[in-house]
Amino acid sequence: MCGIIGYIGKKDSLPIILEGMRRLEYRGYDSAGVALVTDKGLTVFKKAGKLSELVNLIGVNGFRSNLGIGHTRWATHGEPTDQNAHPHCDCANEIAIIHNGIIENYLTLKRKLQADGHTIRTVTDTEVLAHLIEEMYKHSGDLFTAVRKALLKVEGAYGILVVSTREPDKIIAARNGSPLVIGVGEGENLIASDASALIDHTRRVVYLEDGEVACLSAESFSTKTIHDEEIIKEVEEITFDLEQIEKGGFEHFMLKEIHEQPESIYNSLRGRLQVDQGTAKLGGLEPVLAKLLAAPRIIITACGTSWHAALAGKYMLEQLARIPVEVDYASEFRYRNPIIRPDDVMFLISQSGETADTLAALREGRAKGATVLGIVNVVGSTLARETDAGVYIHAGPEIGVASTKAFTSQIAVLSLITLLLARHRGLSAEQGRLLASDLMSIPAKVSKVLEISPHIRAIAEEFKHVRNFLYLGRGSNFPTALEGALKLKEISYIHAEGYPAAEMKHGPIALIDEDMPVVFIVPKDAIYDKVVSNMQEVRARKGRIIAIANEDDKEIDALAEYVIRVPRTYNFFGPIVNSIPLQLLAYYMALARGADVDQPRNLAKSVTVE
Ligand code: F6R
Repeated sequence: MCGIIGYIGKKDSLPIILEGMRRLEYRGYDSAGVALVTDKGLTVFKKAGKLSELVNLIGVNGFRSNLGIGHTRWATHGEPTDQNAHPHCDCANEIAIIHNGIIENYLTLKRKLQADGHTIRTVTDTEVLAHLIEEMYKHSGDLFTAVRKALLKVEGAYGILVVSTREPDKIIAARNGSPLVIGVGEGENLIASDASALIDHTRRVVYLEDGEVACLSAESFSTKTIHDEEIIKEVEEITFDLEQIEKGGFEHFMLKEIHEQPESIYNSLRGRLQVDQGTAKLGGLEPVLAKLLAAPRIIITACGTSWHAALAGKYMLEQLARIPVEVDYASEFRYRNPIIRPDDVMFLISQSGETADTLAALREGRAKGATVLGIVNVVGSTLARETDAGVYIHAGPEIGVASTKAFTSQIAVLSLITLLLARHRGLSAEQGRLLASDLMSIPAKVSKVLEISPHIRAIAEEFKHVRNFLYLGRGSNFPTALEGALKLKEISYIHAEGYPAAEMKHGPIALIDEDMPVVFIVPKDAIYDKVVSNMQEVRARKGRIIAIANEDDKEIDALAEYVIRVPRTYNFFGPIVNSIPLQLLAYYMALARGADVDQPRNLAKSVTVE
């Protein structure tokens, strides 16, 4: 997630801003930039790569500025290049803006601004906003009003800072969906995307809420709603330390990222899911849509957790879009001389976009003539650059080694692709609307599951000394079982296996006794009764059952020792909601066993070697 810092006061702003940006590095970023308002005008430095490269670029410059803004960018629209880095400026280079979030209607705004004579130099959504503010300034002649009026035309999420040489004594800030916090100082004020960038200067803070716009000067600050109503904000005192702030108050990045999922899943769907039309709009796939629709089959390759998402994708794509789908481990695909036909389409799924085996599978598929498409989190990563087209999952940076929010966002994007293809291949608008509204309800359902964390923690405490676990599910929840088992083994070091529930009797049933806990994913779907039969088989052998079941399931208590209740979700989207308690179970098991959740042994976040 991008980092934002602004300073106005009597001191030299540049060192303060650079230090603030260094504090924000933990959020993940791929380029950085600053804008300083000096008596000579606006000075902007921006650079792809690490902050140290920006510092080298700035060098020893010899000027002083009491007003500046700085940004660490996590790319969403446009690759992480020098040019796409923030700040972005208007035509006259008088206004500079930094932005965290996504402007959904930026293309519509961009066309209108270009028609009105604006020269837009980058492909970013943020630059459009700079020109929109410039346009509004022509009418109001007042920066605060110009920003407010511009934002009334914007759809999407933002936390922004805006400065202008025309009004060199203020920073305008606004929030909708992306956090901003004002640091209240003596003869100086700061503002940042989180308090970690402020606490060296002040512990007195004001949190902006969605729909609020602030004006900061060196001596004071004022706030209004975007609709121009005055609001008085309370100054609060920060009591927590830097590490707590970075982890959003959570003990580990993994837990923070688990809790971010209502938002990250929504970000994957935002601006793409068209509930009223019962379909999805995926700009990244438009150039290849005809090929995708004509493809005799889709091949999906990935590794680890991303492979589990791929498998969940197979279930929904085959059932709803009626396209044959093959799912392959990237590491196997690359060496088995796969048979590829020229009209085959391949999807490669990767959070990092840098996994060596997945990149090799991409190159193998391309060499054999397939159209290669990416489902990627990191914008501008190698996979994103080398694929013909694709979809970003927009989950935000994933720092925890165990993948959580990327998994659910990958499935959310696969659901959008399924909906899009299914509608083209005969799914009715009415069915499409039902699916789309179910998808839209998922972030709220995930929030509900997160509320029962204490119950899951208690279960983890109960089982923390166990040495083996079995995870069983059927249909689209077979991938959920695989993912639950992977999460448990990688962070708690407990041996765990995921199986299709019915396969149990072909071997793993031999393992079941009173020491073997079995997690069943058993939603009330068409194969519910079949899974219940598998549960009976486990009970008959004294296995201990933990069931992930629906809230309205009355029968399950008679079968399971522990029940974790989740809201009902449409079958194929179930893995998104049902994997949340499994992530929490793995997390709390690891915690109970004293394992270092953010640094699991032998694992790296990105596997860039074979
Ligand atoms: C598990 C995990 C790994 C990754 C795998 C692929 O929690 O994180 O299994 O899913 O290494 O990584 P990406 O998706 O970056 O290609």
